[in-house]
Amino acid sequence: MVRNELIGVNPIDWKLVAGFFQRTDPAPFPGTPGWASTGIIEAVGAGVTAFSVGQAVIVDSRARLAVTSGSRAGTFRQYLVVDTRQIVPRPPEVGVEQAAGLPSSAVAGYSMIHHLGVTEDDTVLVHGAAGGVGSAAVQVAVARGARVVGTASPDNHDYLRSLGAHPIDYRADIVNAVRAFGPITASADAVGGAASVSATVALLPLGGRAVTAWGDAHSEAARIPWVAHPNDELHQVATLAARGQLTVRIADILPLADAAAALKRVKAGHNRGKILLRPE
Ligand SMILES: NC(=O)c1ccc[n+]([C@@H]2O[C@H](COP(=O)([O-])OP(=O)(O)OC[C@H]3O[C@@H](n4cnc5c(N)ncnc54)[C@H](OP(=O)(O)O)[C@@H]3O)[C@@H](O)[C@H]2O)c1
Repeated sequence: MVRNELIGVNPIDWKLVAGFFQRTDPAPFPGTPGWASTGIIEAVGAGVTAFSVGQAVIVDSRARLAVTSGSRAGTFRQYLVVDTRQIVPRPPEVGVEQAAGLPSSAVAGYSMIHHLGVTEDDTVLVHGAAGGVGSAAVQVAVARGARVVGTASPDNHDYLRSLGAHPIDYRADIVNAVRAFGPITASADAVGGAASVSATVALLPLGGRAVTAWGDAHSEAARIPWVAHPNDELHQVATLAARGQLTVRIADILPLADAAAALKRVKAGHNRGKILLRPE
């Protein structure tokens, strides 16, 4: 059992509350939202040897067990019972706020770059580069030595430069702006929808690699796959964060009682960083 110190709020939380995936992968109702948190182990079950009481851990309830059993842990709570496959040790170098911000979004950003097999020979286009998924994808690609061009509104362009990416305004002509930057070899889409998919299709050469964190009819028609998640993704992002190669931008920390307001803000889609919830 984990006592949550901080809880991360992710787009998937409002999407599940709103009833997404009702047919394919229904969330239990009534249920508790939340896929991300960090805290301290208060008790362990019989047979648990890999973790011990008092240990700091990061929780990602998206782990395989939760999906196959239909019982999502739901991190929006003070105390949480998890399977050991849903946690990794919190490295001492990773602060509580950073740890709470890693699961779901940063994990998906890592997984997109891993899925694409990005190397130093690549120039990667990241759609939605200022968000939780996109900013992680940028940092992981930069850490692999790739050149990165990312879309964001102008208010976020200095942020993208600070991550090592060349910023492009998604409200202008993405295709021509990217062409002016140079040819791309891969595309990681953290936005989805017609505009980013059509830009990817126009910019990628034949045989170019593309992946999306939010598949829809547009990405399906363009045969752009959903990101594939490696089993060690949470461990990998925790390691990158511990090395200082992955930092989560934090927008706000609210009391857990304000969870509904936090979900509305994430749904609006223009936060400058991750919103965290603090259990009282
Ligand atoms: N497959 C998975 O495992 C997985 C995991 C996590 C998330 N996701 C999905 O990935 C998507 C992004 O999640 P997130 O956590 O990154 O969300 P987020 O942090 O809430 O995204 C907000 C950011 O998106 C930017 N943005 C909004 N519209 C944009 C556009 N048209 N073009 C470029 N940037 C735009 C905003 O920048 P401005 O304020 O500058 O507009 C803001 O920085 C969501 O659909 C989420 O459900 C998938």
